[in-house]
Amino acid sequence: MSLEGKKITVGLTGGIACYKVPYLIRSLIKNGAEVQVVMTEAATKFITPLTLETVSERPVAVRMFPPDEFVATRHIDLGQWADLLVVAPATANFLGKVAAGVCDDLLTTVVCASTCPVMVAPAMNPQMWINPVTQRNVATLRKLGFRFVGPEKGDMACRESGVGRMSEPEQIHAAIENCLGKKSGLPPKKKASRAKK
Ligand SMILES: Cc1cc2nc3c(=O)[nH]c(=O)nc-3n(C[C@H](O)[C@H](O)[C@H](O)COP(=O)(O)O)c2cc1C
Repeated sequence: MSLEGKKITVGLTGGIACYKVPYLIRSLIKNGAEVQVVMTEAATKFITPLTLETVSERPVAVRMFPPDEFVATRHIDLGQWADLLVVAPATANFLGKVAAGVCDDLLTTVVCASTCPVMVAPAMNPQMWINPVTQRNVATLRKLGFRFVGPEKGDMACRESGVGRMSEPEQIHAAIENCLGKKSGLPPKKKASRAKK
């Protein structure tokens, strides 16, 4: 499916699976999508903003209060620009914060302000994934209409085996096409009115 004209915000959080995300971004752009990257400070420990800026062909947004950039209402604009927001990899920490309504960094705030569907691709150690608190957060997010891709079963970077691997970029790409290609059975998100700039 062509993604021509589709705007996709890709959020990255702090896990090893960040290394797979440039492949996802490249395939989205190759299919015609515009991609805006937002990453957490923890994600910058795993992959550089420079790499993601280069593959997405746009500046990457990391900090809520960058000292030398004009940002104004960027935390709202980024959440309302996209047709789809995809967080890959999504850490246990991110899932918990979003399920609890916490907005203490740029990415969680963008998610909270978004008017489009939100898809998450969790990635974590199998013990973290089966933790009842994580499972409770996942159930909360599913109930609220968040879409999940994975996690998959397999060998992990932490040398354990089980469910927790992030889905491969091809699987996430297919889920994105599926989501953008068909109408959701869920009611649309309520939108607050906003004066045009
Ligand atoms: C080497 C290393 C790998 C990590 N991998 C993961 C991971 O795959 N999934 C996860 O949930 N947390 C992982 N963490 C822990 C997160 O980076 C940590 O919880 C962090 O606070 C997440 O912040 P964020 O959700 O704001 O990106 C890892 C930490 C380290 C040091």
